[in-house]
Amino acid sequence: MKNTVLTFKNSKKENKKLTMLTAYDYSTAKLMDEVGINAILVGDSLGMVMLGYEDTLSVTIEDIIHHTKAVARGAKNTLIISDMPFMSYQTSVYDAVCNAGRLIKEGNSHAVKLEGGEEVCPQIKAIVDASIPVMAHIGLTPQSVNEFGGFKVQGKDVETAQKLIDAAKAIEQAGAFSITLEGIPAELAEIITNSISIPTIGIGAGNGCDGQVLVYQDMLGMYSNFTPKFIKRYAELGSYMKDAFKEYINEVQSGAFPGPEHTYAISEEVINKIKGDQQCN
Ligand code: KIV
Repeated sequence: MKNTVLTFKNSKKENKKLTMLTAYDYSTAKLMDEVGINAILVGDSLGMVMLGYEDTLSVTIEDIIHHTKAVARGAKNTLIISDMPFMSYQTSVYDAVCNAGRLIKEGNSHAVKLEGGEEVCPQIKAIVDASIPVMAHIGLTPQSVNEFGGFKVQGKDVETAQKLIDAAKAIEQAGAFSITLEGIPAELAEIITNSISIPTIGIGAGNGCDGQVLVYQDMLGMYSNFTPKFIKRYAELGSYMKDAFKEYINEVQSGAFPGPEHTYAISEEVINKIKGDQQCN
């Protein structure tokens, strides 16, 4: 069944948990699509897990378009949401609408995600008015890493917790279809979830949210630079991959690969003729 923003809306009403993972390429998106994930986020986390930057700030709109196109070719039934990178929407409402439009028109995405609370509500409203669904993102918003002084849990005191609750309500009013809650205490995430009618998708925000999202390299053990507490490793693909790479190196070096079963045949007659011709030359 095709997942759309209506799936998000109905899931909250029916108390069904939503599932979202990040993906940045055709093959991974296709695998996720085949097992029925509700949404794929082409996150600006790609700056860290795909491109090797220390944070997400260097990611460009072209990077997100490029990876969204690949994901859209692989995922046919999944709602595809593309992150709006740093400085693609903060600068003005006009920039926000133009860049959101590029993610839909050029990237073939279905929706966009942007970080921030009440300060980005004018952008959310304008993008939604242009018929582009918006997912908001509050809490530990990685694009604010310099303002926070690191990747730090947010909303731990009364003032910042209340600010997040107010932000969620304002975002709903602005027309967003969902909110990602990242890096906030579980009980606060539950209060936010219960105080709005649009679904919350948690990452490091406990299981009181309406759904969950993880970065796929984190959940598969493929990215070890930084492992926050909230990540559950569902597989250790990184070490399987390293074992396979090592075996390949050994087999190539020893001559064991490629074997006869990986090799194309040619008739003896042809090969003898070529060898004969070589000798004449
Ligand atoms: O960029 C990303 O992958 C994200 C998720 C961590 C929510 O924003």
